[in-house]
Amino acid sequence: MASRRHPEIIVVPDAQSLAETAAKRLLARIGQGRGRAAVCLTGGSSPAGLYRLLASEPYRSSLPWDRVHWFMGDDRFVPADDPLSNIGMARRSFLDRVEMPAGNIHPIATSAGSPEAAARLYEAELKRFYGADRLDPARPLFDLVLMGLGADGHTASLFPHASALDEKERWVMGIENAGLEPFVPRVTLTFPVLASTREMLFLVSGQNKGEVLVRVLSGEDLPASRAHSNGDLVWLVDRAAAVEDHYAT
Ligand code: 6PG
Repeated sequence: MASRRHPEIIVVPDAQSLAETAAKRLLARIGQGRGRAAVCLTGGSSPAGLYRLLASEPYRSSLPWDRVHWFMGDDRFVPADDPLSNIGMARRSFLDRVEMPAGNIHPIATSAGSPEAAARLYEAELKRFYGADRLDPARPLFDLVLMGLGADGHTASLFPHASALDEKERWVMGIENAGLEPFVPRVTLTFPVLASTREMLFLVSGQNKGEVLVRVLSGEDLPASRAHSNGDLVWLVDRAAAVEDHYAT
């Protein structure tokens, strides 16, 4: 099993095969159980191909949509119909394009009075779904957590030098100042709750991520380097981002 220090790195030829590989892993993770499953989605552009795939065949008819719950690892504190909204992108790409119980989609309440208020509401929702206020490493909250990598090494909305990086108790936090565009307030899950998963899967695509990916995998203290998983930790990287030749091929 891949660990924090020795994550599994999978290099695929291009963005399309990254989306297909991610979709297969998601289906495998969800298919392993019979009961309720939970997937934590990432925002940004990296997952767009994957999300579109999930609404098309064979995934559209293979996924057990009635028993899968969908959460957000972070969101921009904007209305859901704002082009910057992560849940808005996920809904347009697949969530609103397949039949599933409305209660299976768990957006961050960006209509709340502040990012902090939205964070407290989401933390309560996660705890209600989990059925406890404390995470048990032996009982992960999520089956799969999708993560992206920002050019500054951030992930979710955990930016370099932010105090949220060191948070050990709170599950969700409001972030007033984003460290990278879009410079709008955010709401983000914290590392302990992102780690409560059977698999954490980073999606890294494109030449513009090559340099920061090397920095993260070389152990530089960037937010994405601090991400860890109580289950598997997998970096799914396309060839354009895998600029260095020291990746396992
Ligand atoms: C967000 C994401 C963020 C994203 C990275 C990579 O809200 O923006 O959650 O963490 O994953 O910034 O973004 P791209 O995939 O667009 O490069």
